[in-house]
Amino acid sequence: MTDKTMAMTSSEGNWDYPLIPGSVGPEVVDIRKFYGQTGMFTYDPGFTSTASCQSAITYIDGEKGILLHRGYPIDQLAENSTFMEVSYLLVHGELPKAKELDQFTYTISRHTMLHEQLSTFYRGFRRDAHPMAIMCGVVGALSAFYHDSTDITDPEQRMIATHRLIAKMPTIAAMAYKYSVGQPFMYPDNSVSYTGNFLRMTFGVPAEAYEVNPVIERAMRRIFILHADHEQNASTSTVRLAGSSGANPFACIAAGIACLWGPAHGGANEAALNMLREIARPENIPEYIARAKDKDDPFRLMGFGHRVYKNYDPRAKVMQQTAEEVLKELGISDPVLDTARELEQIALKDDYFIEKKLYPNVDFYSGVILNAIGFPTEMFTALFALARTVGWVAQWNEMISDPEQKIGRPRQLYVGATQRDYVEVGER
Ligand code: SDX
Repeated sequence: MTDKTMAMTSSEGNWDYPLIPGSVGPEVVDIRKFYGQTGMFTYDPGFTSTASCQSAITYIDGEKGILLHRGYPIDQLAENSTFMEVSYLLVHGELPKAKELDQFTYTISRHTMLHEQLSTFYRGFRRDAHPMAIMCGVVGALSAFYHDSTDITDPEQRMIATHRLIAKMPTIAAMAYKYSVGQPFMYPDNSVSYTGNFLRMTFGVPAEAYEVNPVIERAMRRIFILHADHEQNASTSTVRLAGSSGANPFACIAAGIACLWGPAHGGANEAALNMLREIARPENIPEYIARAKDKDDPFRLMGFGHRVYKNYDPRAKVMQQTAEEVLKELGISDPVLDTARELEQIALKDDYFIEKKLYPNVDFYSGVILNAIGFPTEMFTALFALARTVGWVAQWNEMISDPEQKIGRPRQLYVGATQRDYVEVGER
């Protein structure tokens, strides 16, 4: 805390609000006493200028396009780390020593199986249910099975729930895919990596051995790392708000999955590939750019723009490099990638996008890779949820341990009817 303050003057009086600096990035004005002193609320729909908490997990500099996880730049982690190592880093705050990583990986691998009755839970869905509908349902249902890790006041139970959620998401997501294609569920095989296990449960079949392709495994691992956490985005804020009431961790993560599903958030990866396919050929791009700029047209360029990044999303750069690598190494040429590159070039030279600082975000290229690996577009957001679970649980743990946290309960600017008396139906 410093002794710097922000002065507030109104007809009711003058007040000074303390400024609190972070280790890097914007300082905050502490307005916790604002309503008590002024009788007024601050107003910030969409929280464009509001810090909801303090956190040490992820730092984003939107102007410079910087993303750090516990201080480590995302491009270095994507290039050099593994998803297990990044998961340890997000949850525990430091890169693990070899023994710590082995222990963490072993613990996670021992939680990859689901309670057998949960597989019958899938049978209640239609085969064409959206995988995110299944993820919301099955993850919420974990609360009905794992009662020994729902007491959020017990740090040990919180860590068991953390391990269970990180470990079981690949199994749940793979089962959602298998159910949609009518193939039998595959049990986890803990002799392969976290990412390899997911690929095997998704694309393997009981009738034959499944060899994990190292090219695809490396791409999948990078995609998981790029999606692991991202400060106080909509779904993470949802998890924190649900957690602030004391709800159990499985219910909180199910709430995060529901929020992520929206096309303005995690659903954008599915929408972006569908949009690129609809554009189909580079000569159709000008029409879609015009629609994106047209105030009267609700169409937006999916995979473009970001609340925080007013520069290139650093994850999009790594994603584009990975898309080029994977398609080259798999010998696939996908016209959608050419359309995406062309669209990016045209948009970034257009005044509308330059003025509004709209750049490709993490969702713009991810679909090209996931499609090349063989995932249907409906699975894209489920993969985002799989990877983001470690960020959600890390932020949830941080929130619960934060002495300053209390139940989240925003107020409002009321613009409805003032008090009036009831009128009998015959007199209306
Ligand atoms: C994710 O928050 C996170 O960190 C999220 C995420 C994470 O890792 O958790 O990074 C993941 O959700 C990435 C974003 C994925 N969504 C999309 O790609 C959907 C398309 N993008 C837009 O819907 C939009 O850019 C948002 C939702 C991402 C951000 O919206 P904001 O910050 O509320 O900005 P805005 O809607 O107020 O837009 C500012 C202006 C508007 O024009 P004006 O009203 O000022 O005239 O830019 C325009 C918008 O119309 N605009 C776009 C646009 N995005 C913004 N115009 C055309 N195409 C777009 N994609």
